[in-house]
Amino acid sequence: MLTTYKLSTIHCTNIMTFVRVPGKVILFGEHAVVYGKPALAVAIEKYVYVRAKRRSDEEVHITANDLTIKGVHVVMGKKGLIGAFVTGDVRHYLRYILKAIEIAREYSGVEYGIDIEVKSEMPVSAGLGTSASISIGVLYACLEEFGINVSKEELARLGWRVEREVQGAASPTDTATVTHGGYVFIQYEGENVKVERLDTSLELPLIIGYVPRKYTTKEMVEFVRKRLERLGRIGELILDAIESVTLMGRKYVLEGDLQGIGELMYVCHGLLAALGVSTRELDEIVHAAKTAGALGAKLTGAGGGGCVIALGGDDVLKAVKAKSVIAFRTNVDFKGAIVLDE
Ligand code: MEV
Repeated sequence: MLTTYKLSTIHCTNIMTFVRVPGKVILFGEHAVVYGKPALAVAIEKYVYVRAKRRSDEEVHITANDLTIKGVHVVMGKKGLIGAFVTGDVRHYLRYILKAIEIAREYSGVEYGIDIEVKSEMPVSAGLGTSASISIGVLYACLEEFGINVSKEELARLGWRVEREVQGAASPTDTATVTHGGYVFIQYEGENVKVERLDTSLELPLIIGYVPRKYTTKEMVEFVRKRLERLGRIGELILDAIESVTLMGRKYVLEGDLQGIGELMYVCHGLLAALGVSTRELDEIVHAAKTAGALGAKLTGAGGGGCVIALGGDDVLKAVKAKSVIAFRTNVDFKGAIVLDE
């Protein structure tokens, strides 16, 4: 049910910004990236759209009608929240939206109110980077509305801050990838982030299968931390092996070697399973994709449910669909976060 305490009188200026931000999948290196290893992620043609209008008062109005879950309308006044009806996942995503607005205001030193509308083509909490895309989209749209030009590096840095302040901990992988687009090779230690956008226009026959997640990214990262503590040297070897896979994966992407990328995806899935982040459902999707002739398949993102990525043709898509709640084909996005004309 969509209810508001206050009927929103629109106090906006004539200016309006429309921003599009892609989702992402991690090809290699998830979890290991949290321990200083590199990761290789790629932006995908599934988008979050954010519309923003600066207001003449100081209120913040947020409408998120399409996060593939129930809608929400929130009204905030000078003294805080005036009214909102939100449930489950919406509440979760609202935290990113509010934090992005707060950081955009702080960064630009303005107190303008804003009308924000967020739409997502991606299932939320799936490992496709929706929270990063929403954070970057809201930041970008707000900053544009507040008259501030930011570089993509700065936008990604601010988006990483949103994710860290909401989640407690996060690597810069998702925010950097959805900001820059294309293939992003990333490594970080503390505040020191190295981002390389790979010089390639390689298309992937990319298929994504989704099953609901039982745990949040934060919970999965914590689970891996404890597991690594128990595994000791074995854990280190697994992380080292993931690092080698990622480095070789970078080489294959630059060479356009789909066979090589696919082979490494299977290896990476095995290593992630050894870390304990796969589930029976994810293993079954990978197995079904392999049986149908996929070049490669693996879980992507934090695991514990969520998404599998596979490389293959229509038979693979059919096999992945049969084992997933949602499955679709998608392409690589090479543009990253952009402002669109209405
Ligand atoms: C989440 O998309 C990927 C993880 O490596 C966590 C992170 O990088 O923050 C599991």
